[in-house]
Amino acid sequence: MTAEAVIRAWDHAEPEAIHPTRHVSEDAYWESGKAQADMLASVIPDGAKVLDFGCGDGRVAVPMAGLGYDVTAIDASQRMLDRLTERAPDVTTVQADADGIAAHLGRRRMDAVYALAVLIHHNWADCLHIIGRLRAATKLGGILVLDWPVSETPEEADSWIGITTWARQQQDAICAELGLEPVESELPWGVYRAIKTN
Ligand SMILES: C[S@@+](CC[C@H](N)C(=O)[O-])C[C@H]1O[C@@H](n2cnc3c(N)ncnc32)[C@H](O)[C@@H]1O
Repeated sequence: MTAEAVIRAWDHAEPEAIHPTRHVSEDAYWESGKAQADMLASVIPDGAKVLDFGCGDGRVAVPMAGLGYDVTAIDASQRMLDRLTERAPDVTTVQADADGIAAHLGRRRMDAVYALAVLIHHNWADCLHIIGRLRAATKLGGILVLDWPVSETPEEADSWIGITTWARQQQDAICAELGLEPVESELPWGVYRAIKTN
């Protein structure tokens, strides 16, 4: 599927599609976001300027703001952003895809960028493109947290809600090309520091 098709599908998705905990209860859904914000806080310095790419309705962006981070929440879907603003009017939202990030930031760069449950729904080529844009939005030495799972049998998502997985060698090659240095962490996602490429 193309990124446009994935974005179109999410723009019409029911709120329940965002995370399995929403089938349990709204409380469970927001608690899952708080737990993941706490996990991000173990690798992102206090008070950092962070970009939540594909923020949805703010499951993680809202608790990140609650922890004192300066959050910019980006999503291609204005419907998602409207729901986020309803819950947390003070969080900065930007309606954009990965190509729109640069226009919003201008010369500014973020201390940290994370994308949770976003890349998993895109094909390899579109992921590569998006990760390049996320890396470009991050200052040198900044942190990127990418949810792009490794598998022994990597495959591309075959629907907007499907899951794309990666070979470790594919990820290593992308990191070398884009200037992403792996950071040791306990997190279930890839954590990287933005470094210069040769
Ligand atoms: C599964 S939801 C995850 C939301 C949030 N990150 C979370 O973990 O709760 C995926 C979100 O990413 C957004 N999205 C997917 N692909 C995108 C893209 N290429 N550019 C911008 N937003 C995108 C969708 O609109 C949707 O809100």
